[in-house]
Amino acid sequence: MAFISSTVSFLLFISLSASSSLVSANFYDEFDITWGDGRGKVINPDLLTLSLDKSSGSGFESRNEYLFGKIDMQLKLVPGNSAGTVTAYYLSSKGSNWDEIDFEFLGNLSGDPYILHTNVFSQGKGNREQQFYLWFDPTADFHTYSILWNPQRIIFSVDGTPIREFKNAESTGVPFPKDQPMRIHSSLWNADDWATRGGLVKTDWSQAPFTASYRNFKADACVVASGKSSCGGSAASSAGNNQAWLSEELDNTKQERLRWVQKNYMIYNYCSDSKRFPQGFPPECNVA
Ligand SMILES: *[C@@H]1O[C@H](CO)[C@@H](O)[C@H](O)[C@H]1NC(C)=O
Repeated sequence: MAFISSTVSFLLFISLSASSSLVSANFYDEFDITWGDGRGKVINPDLLTLSLDKSSGSGFESRNEYLFGKIDMQLKLVPGNSAGTVTAYYLSSKGSNWDEIDFEFLGNLSGDPYILHTNVFSQGKGNREQQFYLWFDPTADFHTYSILWNPQRIIFSVDGTPIREFKNAESTGVPFPKDQPMRIHSSLWNADDWATRGGLVKTDWSQAPFTASYRNFKADACVVASGKSSCGGSAASSAGNNQAWLSEELDNTKQERLRWVQKNYMIYNYCSDSKRFPQGFPPECNVA
């Protein structure tokens, strides 16, 4: 009996340590407020707020560094007249050849639509913008913004609906983010020189402080510490792991949802901006 239970606990230990799943993570444990002199606050284990006023914005970052993952966060954006404000929520590595996966929410006058701006940087090169309107008011309630990042693709989703897929196009010579661990970052700042109607609408400081809220963070992800991935193997070969999301792709239903969003809500796509790329679109634009 003692033998059996120690075997069971040994197996349990193996399966727990091989698992990368973090369920209902605690903001106190997972994040550090990195700037803003008290304007960023962990209110309770499942609520964090950032604020912006005329003197400063604020920001936080994850303590963990991740190399691949399925990462969900619920955000409720600055309500009312949020013109000029930008809430950025992204993954980023360090150094001059950094990788980055971006959501940026560009505020607007009351009743006018936010823009959800997305970008993907690999090896320090971005210029891969896609922008969307949302099919709901992102300030009225919390909504889930997710990044699925595996060695084959990056999928941006909103409330489970994919809005963008960036495929690994290394076969065409385009680097893909797959070697550099990234932290989660978020910040709320003033960008009224460009954010709203291209900078035409300025921040109305009489509405300050502006506040964005975060809850329900979930990372089913490979955490890298001292060069080792929690998914096993070296940081660079986590793909050997059997986590389903590590090879997840869009099924037919999700592909249809993606087309629905792109048809009805996408307002800018660098891959169709022929004025910007007179010599031809970047190679990843042609990967099926
Ligand atoms: C703000 O509203 C205007 C008018 O509807 C729209 O053109 C613009 O795309 C909206 N969003 C931003 C961030 O400028």
